[in-house]
Amino acid sequence: MKTLIIYVSVHHGNTEKVAGAMANALAAQLLQVNEADASMLERYDLIGFGSGIYFGKHHESLLDFVDRLPILRNKKAFVFSTSGLRKIPFIHDFHKPLKQRLQRKGFDIISEFSCRGLDTYRATKLVGGVNRGRPDIRDLKQAEDFARGLLNRG
Ligand SMILES: Cc1cc2nc3c(=O)[nH]c(=O)nc-3n(C[C@H](O)[C@H](O)[C@H](O)COP(=O)(O)O)c2cc1C
Repeated sequence: MKTLIIYVSVHHGNTEKVAGAMANALAAQLLQVNEADASMLERYDLIGFGSGIYFGKHHESLLDFVDRLPILRNKKAFVFSTSGLRKIPFIHDFHKPLKQRLQRKGFDIISEFSCRGLDTYRATKLVGGVNRGRPDIRDLKQAEDFARGLLNRG
């Protein structure tokens, strides 16, 4: 399955580490969102979209990128993130805004992945941040395993 991963990682490079681990496992093309354009997507079967979580959703530039896409057919997608807080399905599903946008563009979302990342925003800075050292080796191994699992879902 030809795979492209598009990501944004602006706070501490947390999501970039996760995106890199997934790209290795999938032999995927890896691009920051500002390096990607809509016409490239035609060449791939599976596209991963990920960023840190900022104010309860993925980075605006990633959401805007998806908003600008045309309607696509036969494209599978997966969504991933790193965040200060854990994702709580139904209550605090911070993947939802991105997933809704992807679905509007015709993507079939086959899976999603989230792990903690160092967060030094606002008050957390005073204590040296939360989730120090994350994503760690275990998180990156989980990201790789997640990515390999996608290959069986094609
Ligand atoms: C401006 C800002 C807003 C954030 N908002 C949230 C949030 O709403 N929920 C959360 O769980 N983490 C939040 N975080 C923490 C980041 O999601 C976390 O540090 C993430 O790993 C950053 O990824 P990056 O280093 O790839 O940018 C925020 C961080 C920043 C800088």
